[in-house]
Amino acid sequence: MSSHVTPDTITDELPAMPVDTPSIVVLISGNGSNLQALIDAQAHHQLSGNIVAVIANEPDAYGLTRAHDAGIDAVVLPHREYDSRDAYDGALIKVIDRHQPSVIVLAGFMRILTPRFVQRYLGKMLNIHPSLLPAYQGLNTHARVLAEGATQHGCSVHFVTEELDGGPVAIQAALKIAQDDTESTLKDKIHAREHLILPIAVNWFLEGRLQYSGTGATLDGVALPMEGLRLSHEDAASELDET
Ligand code: GRF
Repeated sequence: MSSHVTPDTITDELPAMPVDTPSIVVLISGNGSNLQALIDAQAHHQLSGNIVAVIANEPDAYGLTRAHDAGIDAVVLPHREYDSRDAYDGALIKVIDRHQPSVIVLAGFMRILTPRFVQRYLGKMLNIHPSLLPAYQGLNTHARVLAEGATQHGCSVHFVTEELDGGPVAIQAALKIAQDDTESTLKDKIHAREHLILPIAVNWFLEGRLQYSGTGATLDGVALPMEGLRLSHEDAASELDET
């Protein structure tokens, strides 16, 4: 079962394990389908690293079951047990640092992070966001896209900086919006694209190909545009065998 960490059980004394293989810590709040995409990529040897821990701020996050089923350390760190955002992020830092991860992946982690947390992991923390950033930062992206009559949507993997959903993008996958799309169909189509691009970006990072330069992101030493490398609707649809 998952271990439940409370303010009383957080300690500094757990020794860090020696790390030979690059390691990944994934933070989640819910279903964890993006976590599953990473687990599947690792199982298919498409990830140059090991997922060593999954941390959830919600005790009933289904992603914890996914982690457990995959034999990954699943940790519940409920934010409601902490008095302040800073206290919570301090506890989160302690749990993360036990694992000395090469990369921290926010895969549906629905928390605003404190500047101290972001600065600690600047350049090694990636987030998956359901829009073609910089468009539609924040929540409820599918509803907003539909309300505005946009013709295109998508998802992005980006480095996390202090600006919410504002860090440099590594990769995006685009989606042409169909006449009959609803929030529900968009959610499914965007999820499929997220599951495609998140493992790619994480693997680029683990292989040292994707880096944060302070001002942007680079891939193989070349500066990426602000929107990162964009997979077109056609290329994504073809990868996903969509009709
Ligand atoms: C994804 O749509 C992601 O873009 C957003 O939260 C959702 C998480 O989905 N940040 P899941 O928990 O990975 O299924």
